[in-house]
Parts: sequence; C-alpha cells; structure tokens
Amino acid sequence: MKFFVDTAEIDQIKELNDLGMVDGVTTNPSLIKKSGRDIIEVTKEICSIVDGPVSAEVTSTEADTMIAEGRKLVTIAKNIAVKVPLTWDGLRACKTLSSEGHMVNVTLCFSANQALLAAKAGATFISPFIGRLDDINLDGMQLIEDIREIYDNYDFETQILAASIRTVNHALESARIGADVMTAPPAVIKSMINHPLTDKGLAAFLEDIKFTKQKIL
Ligand code: E4P
Repeated sequence: MKFFVDTAEIDQIKELNDLGMVDGVTTNPSLIKKSGRDIIEVTKEICSIVDGPVSAEVTSTEADTMIAEGRKLVTIAKNIAVKVPLTWDGLRACKTLSSEGHMVNVTLCFSANQALLAAKAGATFISPFIGRLDDINLDGMQLIEDIREIYDNYDFETQILAASIRTVNHALESARIGADVMTAPPAVIKSMINHPLTDKGLAAFLEDIKFTKQKIL
C-alpha cells in the first residue's frame, strides 16, 4: 500500500519523507489555506522534496477553466497529479487531461457509482472520503470495499486512494480491503506506531539491562 501524506506543511512532509513513509502528497484548497502559502510556490517546494505524485487541486467549477488550470499546474513539476472534483465538469476535465498524459486525481467521491464514472473518464486516482461519510453516520469503509469490488470486476486501472482518513483504524481497514493508496494527515501516520505493550516491554528491557550494569557502547 502506498502512503500519501495529506498536508501542505513542508516540515511534516520532510520528516515523514526522511523515514521513507511518503510515496506521494495530497493537498486541497483548505490545506493550502492552512499552510498560509501561495499555492504554486508551496506545491513546487513539495514536488522538490517528494518523488511520487503530488496532488494539486483546481479552483474553478467549469471544465474549460479546470483544464487550463490543470495545464498550468502540470508545468510546476513532472510529478503533479491534477485534482478535480467529482462533477460532470470535473470528469470532462479528467478525460481531457488524462488523454494528454497527465495524472488526474478525482476527489470528493462519496459513492461507488461516482467512482465508476471517474474510472471511465480515465482517472489515475479516485479519492473516496471515508471520514466525511462517517461524520454523517454512513459507512465510509463500505464505500472502499464497494469500489474495490467494482474496479476488480472490470480490471479498471484507476487507483483507489482512500482519503479523509481520520483514525488508525481507517488506515488499517483500507489496507485490509486493498485500497491502492491511503492519504492521511501526518498525525495519523505517526500514531500508527503506538502500542502500549511496545512501551511496556521496552521499559522492562531497559530496567533489566540497567540492573546488569552492562553497556554496548
Ligand atoms: C484528500 O485528498 C483530501 O485532501 C482529504 O483527505 C480530506 O480530508 P478531510 O475530510 O479530513 O478534510
């Protein structure tokens, strides 16, 4: 499973990238706002750090303008994936940009039928939003499962990018179902390491070696 980090914060991307935990990055207008940076500048900086796909989202709602924005975004770096919303205009932009050989991430997916349309339009990635479905008492993980089944039925090459991941269980379940990629905030990726028995076991080992007064260095 590929790990994308869902942030536009450079320090956090660098920290996880140095650990080999970053196969790509996803941004969106809200994350750009949070970073306080210029969208083009910060996206360029992210692309200089990370080799894998870096999603940068268009800001218009009309297909022709999305296509123009996408064509500008891909000039930032060769690893840009243009992010478009799951609307008919977004799918039209997806079809054009993917036909030109650009990576396209279709975002704001909340149903398996939407994911089917995105695959037909040539999306490189489909981003089903797990957390936002859970927020309204719907089953976000079921959506990942449904899309996996449909894409496998027809050998669609579109990669399932599990998004809006809020908990370590979202990450675990996405991996179990076989999502190709997950994108998660740095804090969620970092908390995947936590286990109280690891902490307890390490504390006991350190106590015991201290008792023996032995040192390796
Ligand atoms: C993915 O590409 C989105 O940027 C992100 O996962 C949305 O997450 P949120 O629902 O926590 O805002």
